[in-house]
Amino acid sequence: MRVVVDLTRCQGYAQCVFLAPDVFQLHGEEALLYDPAVPEDQYERVRQAAAACPVQAILVGEE
Ligand code: F3S
Repeated sequence: MRVVVDLTRCQGYAQCVFLAPDVFQLHGEEALLYDPAVPEDQYERVRQAAAACPVQAILVGEE
């Protein structure tokens, strides 16, 4: 799985940080950092984060 966050859409709602803190980190109000190569044990959390993002900024690619 790979994940991409469209940072032009991200509004810093932090649902992703709450649901998958090992993958997504927020630095300040809107500086979202994340690991694009998702570890296998984080797949479900990342799917939940993608579903929970209010502006659909998280794009998940299955490999
Ligand atoms: Fe941004 Fe969505 Fe996360 S708005 S901080 S990608 S929940």
